[in-house]
Amino acid sequence: MLEISARLEEALNRAFNKVFPKENRSSKTSSILTGSNLVPASKPEFGDFQINCALALSKEIKQPPRDIAQQIADQLQKDNNFIKICNPPLIAGPGFINLTINSNTLISEIHFRLNNKRLGVSLKKFTSKKIEKDKHNNRVIIDFSSPNIAKEMHVGHLRSTIIGDSLARVLDFCGYEVIRLNHVGDWGTQFGMLITHLKEVVPEALHTKDVVEISDLVNFYRQAKKRFDEDQVFQNKSRSEVVNLQAGEKDSLIAWQLLCNQSRKEFQKIYDRLDIKLTERGESFYNKFLVDVMNDLKNKDLLINDQGAQCIFLDGIVGKDGKPQPIIIQKSDGGFNYATTDLAAIKYRLTTPPHGDGACRVIYVTDAGQASHFSGVFRIAKLANWIPTDCQIEHVPFGLVQGEDGKKLKTRSGETIRLVDLLDEAIQRAREDLKDRLNTESRSENESFIDKVSTTVGIAAIKYADLSQNRVSNYQFSFDKMLSLQGNTAPYLLYALVRIAGISRKGGDLNVASQNLQFNEPQEWVLIRKLLQLDCIIAEVEKELLPNRLCGYLFELSQIFNRFYDQVPILKAIEPSRSSRLALCSITANTLKLGMSLLGIPTLERM
Ligand code: ARG
Repeated sequence: MLEISARLEEALNRAFNKVFPKENRSSKTSSILTGSNLVPASKPEFGDFQINCALALSKEIKQPPRDIAQQIADQLQKDNNFIKICNPPLIAGPGFINLTINSNTLISEIHFRLNNKRLGVSLKKFTSKKIEKDKHNNRVIIDFSSPNIAKEMHVGHLRSTIIGDSLARVLDFCGYEVIRLNHVGDWGTQFGMLITHLKEVVPEALHTKDVVEISDLVNFYRQAKKRFDEDQVFQNKSRSEVVNLQAGEKDSLIAWQLLCNQSRKEFQKIYDRLDIKLTERGESFYNKFLVDVMNDLKNKDLLINDQGAQCIFLDGIVGKDGKPQPIIIQKSDGGFNYATTDLAAIKYRLTTPPHGDGACRVIYVTDAGQASHFSGVFRIAKLANWIPTDCQIEHVPFGLVQGEDGKKLKTRSGETIRLVDLLDEAIQRAREDLKDRLNTESRSENESFIDKVSTTVGIAAIKYADLSQNRVSNYQFSFDKMLSLQGNTAPYLLYALVRIAGISRKGGDLNVASQNLQFNEPQEWVLIRKLLQLDCIIAEVEKELLPNRLCGYLFELSQIFNRFYDQVPILKAIEPSRSSRLALCSITANTLKLGMSLLGIPTLERM
């Protein structure tokens, strides 16, 4: 629909130029006419688009709005390119112009989608104008998932992983070159105590493979922390261990790597189950740039020495006591912070290769709690002139995952939930639901079918429940809701696809390539119009980075399809209706499959 609306917009501008010649326009009139005057119809009965500017213009040029609307409509009717696409415009109410796309145009759009893998979503065209050599104006970095070494990945990381992956898929589909970065927390003072503890408790681990396992490692972290808090000698050793590690001392590095590898293995299990691809580039990668970053900030006069620490004070950033609060770039003991690493990362990501990534858009997917951290480092990066004018850096925040009681998600006994357990439980519950359903429907299926369906439904449900919420709000985790066959859920969408696959099993050929398409039922037109919206929705997600828009669209599409399926005969219809309806089934299936794949959600033929 994007192209049609662009063509209508052009026709509208031609009409404006005739009715309100440029040389006679007041500045107010010009500003009204240059705004976007073509908007989607507010109700289906008004057609596809409406033009509302006659009302605003009427005050300016002192004519009744309906007269103005009539002049615009008459002019549009004289435009061949307009007549080709649209039915005659209708004037409604105080002076709205309603536009309805004509059936021929809609049918040819549908025809086109029958043979088009991208279902009418065009690949983004990037300007070939390269501002600098090696500057990639189509390269996007998505920084997501990013758990911390030696700690378990928590539900917040799960959200980041699911949302980040879906954004990566959408931007990739649009034609960007997407770099998916896992900014794991693999550096920092905590490694001093972890390494000290490791050297003492499992010295053999330094020279033998696979001695520590992560479930131990989380416990291990707790023990190390406890000793660090209670034992002065241990604390001192840990401090010097940090120095050893920074100096690249061999055993310290081995121990560090070991801890990282153990964590990595555990994280990978989750990524594999969720079908997530990521390139690990942890905080430690930026170590070698930290001093440069600091010097650069110093040369730009941004640093202030505050009791030995190198700080930046930003306007409006105050602590709880109301006093200006610094962002510490280098601590008084010489150590660097999370913020310093992020500054180095921004600089690297925006610098052209070979000294950086040369990205034009950098997206950070983390919980909303980090909003002020990111706004601070982004402001510093701007002050330091590291962000080229044509580049964008954005924080994509999301809310908390809560239990059904509205509190932080916990196990029944009050502990933090492990992600593996969460996935297992979703699959287990999906399996029970499936078995119940098979029973009521007196169906018998083999174990491998039951396995496949319950795994797919379980994972799909978890992902979809997360993605279908506006990410900014907190979201309540409920197995019952996410696994329900009713409502805006993964099973509901999956079921629509299964219905279509069923039509094909009952003999409906969905590979209808090209034929005489004819539609005469209102349910068909509603479905057609919904199918044609896909490109607008994807463009919205690309811009606003809100996957819930795509979910909402797929849900509405499934509802509209189900109504069509229930109310209009398909296999029993006579030609040309039969193949025309099968064509709609086929495009609906492809749209749902494409949409789900952009959400990172697997689909099924039977369930
Ligand atoms: N490791 C951090 C955490 O667990 C998230 C890192 C996000 N990315 C970044 N560039 N700061 O909270």
